[in-house]
This record gives sequence, C-alpha cells and structure tokens, in this order.
Amino acid sequence: MFNTVKRLVESLRLIFPKASGGFFLRHIDINKVPVHVAIIMDGNGRWAKMRGLPRIVGHRAGTKIVRQTVETASELSIKYLTLYAFSVENWQRPKDEVSALMDLFVEMLDREIRELHENNVRFIATGRLGELSQRLQKTIGRATSLTEKNTGLVLNIAINYSGRAEIVDAVRQIVKKVDKKELEPDKIDEKTLADNLYMSDAVYPELLIRTGGERRISNFLLWQIVYSEFWITPVLWPDFKKSDFFEAIYDFQRRERRFGGL
Ligand code: FPP
Repeated sequence: MFNTVKRLVESLRLIFPKASGGFFLRHIDINKVPVHVAIIMDGNGRWAKMRGLPRIVGHRAGTKIVRQTVETASELSIKYLTLYAFSVENWQRPKDEVSALMDLFVEMLDREIRELHENNVRFIATGRLGELSQRLQKTIGRATSLTEKNTGLVLNIAINYSGRAEIVDAVRQIVKKVDKKELEPDKIDEKTLADNLYMSDAVYPELLIRTGGERRISNFLLWQIVYSEFWITPVLWPDFKKSDFFEAIYDFQRRERRFGGL
C-alpha cells in the first residue's frame, strides 16, 4: 500500500515538480530529522558539459546550491552538515580545474562567512588542511575562528579529505601517544580510533546523500558511515533543489534502522 502511494507521489512529482517539495516538507517529522547529514556533491562537470560550458562553471553553479543547502539544513535544525568538496584523489584532475576550484573555495568562504556567522553557523574544515595553499589555509583559519563560538548548524567542509587518509592520520596520532607512554597498545579499541578522527566530537552521519547518480562511496567517511542510510539521486548537484533535500529526509524517516539487531 505504502509503495503504491509512493509511486503515485513520484508520478505526481513529474507532473507537478514544485508542488512535491511542499508534500515532502509537510510530511517531515521535525523531531526526527537526522542529526548529521553528509553529502557527496557530484555532477558539476556533467551539468556544465550538458550546456557546452567549462567544468568550472558547473562548480560555480554548485556553490549556489551549497548556500541553499546550508540554509535548508539550518531551517530543519540539522546539527551537522558535512559536504565533500575536494578529495585527496581530486588532485589528479587537470591543473587548471584544481586551481580554479581552490580559488572558488577562497572566494566562496570570503564571501559567505559573515552571513554564516550572523546565522550562528559554526564553520569547520576537515582533511589534510596543511597541504592546501597558504591563502586557502588562512581563509579557513579565519572562518573557523570567527565562528567557533556559534551554537547553530556545524558546517563541515571536507577538503583534501579521504576516508583512508583520515584513518591513517588517526593511527599516527595514536602511535604518537603510545610513544609518549600516554596510551598502552593493549588498551587501543574502536573508541580510541574514533576519538582520533578529525571530527571526533560529532555524531556519525545518519544520512548520506549522493547526487549525480553514481552508487559508490568514493573514499568518503569510511569509518563513520557503517550504519548511515544512503540516499542516491540522479539529480546533478547544481540542480539539487530544496525539495530534493526534503525528499531525502522524508525517505530517511521512513527507513527501518536496525544497527545489526532485529
Ligand atoms: C564533484 O563533481 C564536485 C567537486 C569535485 C567539487 C565540489 C565543489 C563545489 C560544489 C564548490 C563548493 C564550495 C565549497 C566551499 C563547499 P564532478 O566534477 O566530479 O562532476 P562530474 O562527476 O559530473 O564530472
């Protein structure tokens, strides 16, 4: 019965795309929104290519959606929003795309940070930040310290990030503690590793959204996503609307989460 209703909703959505956002929003239980949502923002390149434009135009269009998604997350009282902006593997892209992306990160952060601050958003960045340009590191540092006391949404931008690198970095921290005799090797357990991850104080993502239709993890949050619910949409990131975000949450709220139990 529920599936029939869902199919009907999906068909109506094709006919009345704008009306459906309202439907999903009306049916979201505001007391059960995921505490942490993580997003793989994929499809900028294809979006640009479909329009005969350079890939960077797609990334630029993607920044508008970042802004809109942050606003929506705040409105829904989501506590943590993690956005995958640049992976360790993304350095393999053509040099001009990489440098245009880096410029875009600086430009976007410089432009948006005041407003984020006024909206009580706490900005953090995770990844191997020390390998980024001095300019970008400074911008990230300014944004982080300006907003560090804010108590609203925590916006985490994963930049020069990979899940494996994060685990390796955690192991390095742990080994240093063992070297300094602050930790006994036999006492190392899952909690020790978890405590040494970049964002060790955050709840793990309950919902992981991937735009652009690919069905893979792409080295994102490997440790943290063991029991995350996945929501994959063919919608390309620059086309990702508020209504798509609402739909993801609506769908999440209808999942049965068992965490390995019955
Ligand atoms: C993946 O799409 C997207 C990226 C590697 C960059 C994402 C960056 C932004 C949306 C800018 C946001 C800025 C901040 C500060 C968060 P793709 O290029 O792999 O697309 P494709 O799969 O269609 O080629």
